[in-house]
Amino acid sequence: MKSALLYEGKAKKVHSVVGEEGQLILEYKDDATAFNGEKHKIFKGKGRLNNLISSHIFHYLHEKGVASHFIQALSDTEQLVYQTHIIPIEVVVRNIATGSLTKRLGITEGAVFHEPLVELYYKEDALNDPLMNDDHAKYITGISEGELEFIKEQARNINHHLQVMYQKIGVKLVDFKLEFGRLHDGSIVLSDEISPDTCRLWEEETGRKMDKDVFRNDIEDLVEIYDTIWKRMEANVHV
Ligand code: C5P
Repeated sequence: MKSALLYEGKAKKVHSVVGEEGQLILEYKDDATAFNGEKHKIFKGKGRLNNLISSHIFHYLHEKGVASHFIQALSDTEQLVYQTHIIPIEVVVRNIATGSLTKRLGITEGAVFHEPLVELYYKEDALNDPLMNDDHAKYITGISEGELEFIKEQARNINHHLQVMYQKIGVKLVDFKLEFGRLHDGSIVLSDEISPDTCRLWEEETGRKMDKDVFRNDIEDLVEIYDTIWKRMEANVHV
């Protein structure tokens, strides 16, 4: 079924599918990178865990009416997805202040936002993915005002559903990043991945970090932490 390797990114490979022009296979790799690729390490089993977690989340969001590129998981490390043209905007949703936000604006670490903050970053490695406003996003990507509103609304809606899901497994959803893409008919759907690589997750009771920050800041073993998240999710399949 899998044919040519089309693209290899930091965390995933993209393959074409024999006989299916509008579909792709995403293969999750064991590589972890941070600080725009400056820090790199291979964690055996990470690709499998991110594929399982991301597939579970896309499936859950589909049940909540969120359209995405996800079709089905194909193996431990592979997903079948619809081909999209990725819109070069990284949409970050924040429920609790940490990370780049506290550094950039001096907001107190741990401050809770009752109205989640939605931020747009220009997905461009050469520029270090800079923060941008709506006007920048419209100018750079050609996206319309209405489409941008749709993306932000989807991001808030996804945040709500994910917060509920994570609460059930004793985890706070601190912040996360989403990407959206266009299907060939021009419609916009959620794309890329949603995994502990792209979210900050803090254990409710202990505050323990359960996401890629354990690798960024050399806190704990990444695979053990991701496996804990996956085991809790799996036990709550019908969330
Ligand atoms: O670094 P910052 O605090 O802006 O990250 C906010 C959230 O977006 C974090 O959950 C982080 O993992 C995610 N993110 C990402 N990919 C990026 C930038 C941020 O997944 N390129």
